[in-house]
Amino acid sequence: MDNQLLPVLLLLLLGVSGLCGQRQGPEGPSEELPEESPGEEVPKEDGILLLSNHTLSLALQEHPALMVEFYAPWCGHCKALAPEYSKAAALLAAESAGVMLAKVDGPAEPELTKEFGVEGYPTLKFFQNGNRTHPEEYTGPQKAEGIAEWLRRRVGPSAIRLEDEEGVQALMDTRDIVVIGFFQNLQEQNMATFLALAKDALDMTFGFTDRPQLFHKFGLTKDTVVLFKKFDEGRADFLVDDELGLDMGDLSRFLVTHSMHLVTEFNSQTSPKIFAARILNHLLLFVNQTLPQHRELLADFREAAPPFRGQVLFVMVDVAADNGHVLQYFGLKAEEAPTLRLVNIETTKKYAPTGRTPITAASVTAFCHAVFHGEVKPYFLSQEVPPDWDQRPVKTLVGKNFEKVAFDETKNVFVKFYAPWCSHCREMAPVWEALAEKYKDHEDIVIAELDSTANELEAFAVGGYPTLKFFPAGPDRKVIEYKSTRDLETFSKFLDSGGDLPEEPAVSSPEPQANSTLGPKEEL
Ligand SMILES: *[C@@H]1O[C@H](CO)[C@@H](O)[C@H](O)[C@H]1NC(C)=O
Ligand SMILES: *[C@@H]1O[C@H](CO)[C@@H](O)[C@H](O)[C@H]1NC(C)=O
Ligand SMILES: *[C@@H]1O[C@H](CO)[C@@H](O)[C@H](O)[C@H]1NC(C)=O
Ligand SMILES: *[C@@H]1O[C@H](CO)[C@@H](O)[C@H](O)[C@H]1NC(C)=O
Repeated sequence: MDNQLLPVLLLLLLGVSGLCGQRQGPEGPSEELPEESPGEEVPKEDGILLLSNHTLSLALQEHPALMVEFYAPWCGHCKALAPEYSKAAALLAAESAGVMLAKVDGPAEPELTKEFGVEGYPTLKFFQNGNRTHPEEYTGPQKAEGIAEWLRRRVGPSAIRLEDEEGVQALMDTRDIVVIGFFQNLQEQNMATFLALAKDALDMTFGFTDRPQLFHKFGLTKDTVVLFKKFDEGRADFLVDDELGLDMGDLSRFLVTHSMHLVTEFNSQTSPKIFAARILNHLLLFVNQTLPQHRELLADFREAAPPFRGQVLFVMVDVAADNGHVLQYFGLKAEEAPTLRLVNIETTKKYAPTGRTPITAASVTAFCHAVFHGEVKPYFLSQEVPPDWDQRPVKTLVGKNFEKVAFDETKNVFVKFYAPWCSHCREMAPVWEALAEKYKDHEDIVIAELDSTANELEAFAVGGYPTLKFFPAGPDRKVIEYKSTRDLETFSKFLDSGGDLPEEPAVSSPEPQANSTLGPKEEL
């Protein structure tokens, strides 16, 4: 499945950590270190303490809140982080937040990497109250402001206590979205859960209160978390379950869902949020924003959105902006706007409205219902069958001729699914040509290839490139995935034996390559 959307999604869902692999440091003989001398200076660089096995103890004594980055001199992700890390240190120093940032050269300090179980670089750990045995692993953002905010929410409160209406108003004035927990008893577990969530939900601002007059003011009688927003519905209430208490996962999903605008314009800033929202269905309205009659459609689109909140994310794609990759993913041309597409980002199935019904709130609603009731069939991209598709030794397959050729009962068909940008695919191209040349006179053998970025199959989705599949002759529609060595000899053995995989390959082939700028499966 070569697409622009899913890899981004995966990247977000898997939380690509940007870790460099662990490398063994030179474990030289350790020297006897001098006893700690009082008042000893720990070296600093760009506001960051440079710690060793010895000075870590000193730093822990001196700084009740200490963030430590384990880095390696050769690690690229660490180099990228360095300026942000220094900037975060400067931000926190300027506001006297009481947090110190430090670094440890991992390979030079094997004792420390062992002690803290460092398995890759950079690894960041946060130590509080000099507690050396239980640091908190840092999994927050990689940008300065995010790092600083993560730390602020640990050394200070993660939510602000509100006593009166003025306090609530002041908090609401600071951000477009604020989340306020109304708890009758601040000593209960619900409150602790709320504060813990607020520690990590860095893009929202949190407050809490137990004041009866504030419950009354906002029409509440029970423990409730309210998301206030300066747009769309203005407010969304999450009622705390009396018996089960506050569930962090449920609240977190609720906040993400309700903090999205009813309609989100697709662009490079919003696309991470769109996929992080974890709403499986995305309904896209493609319009040319420079045209007034297209812009008018947005009101109708928005009108249809409220009942689908949490189930369908409404997204507007401006075809006049830099969104060519989105159009390509849906097999659309800019001239086809205005139009709708629905995609389930889990199955990657795509749906288009049938006919050319005008876009109105009612037709948008009807389209969504039709998809969910199974009344619309998904569509699959395909190029046209090239006139010379069977003229070369390697046959060209596209979506439209795939069924007929691959599942031909009289032929054994071996197909390479590739992406034009995939380097492993290019590397194996000569071998594939040679294989096709070798078997070109075998009536019952077809060697073929299919560009999976432009052709999708109903039968299965292709997840990485290259993917090799064998479709033996016969009525069973059998599919055998080839996972062995990619050389002429092994391919030939495989074909000669009618699709039996050879014994353990001597050298295993690299894993199929996902789109490496977007996908998580980057080969190093
Ligand atoms: C590292 O520090 C610990 C704790 O201070 C100490 O016990 C250990 O001997 C040190 N190791 C080296 C190699 O200095
Ligand atoms: C460090 O924190 C852990 C967990 O909170 C606690 O069990 C332990 O006693 C603490 N150690 C010290 C030295 O305070
Ligand atoms: C959008 O509309 C404008 C105005 O008609 C037109 O010039 C432009 O080519 C359109 N953009 C696309 C990508 O179709
Ligand atoms: C990933 O795919 C897009 C288009 O599908 C392409 O523009 C981009 O260059 C690809 N990335 C790499 C690393 O080839």
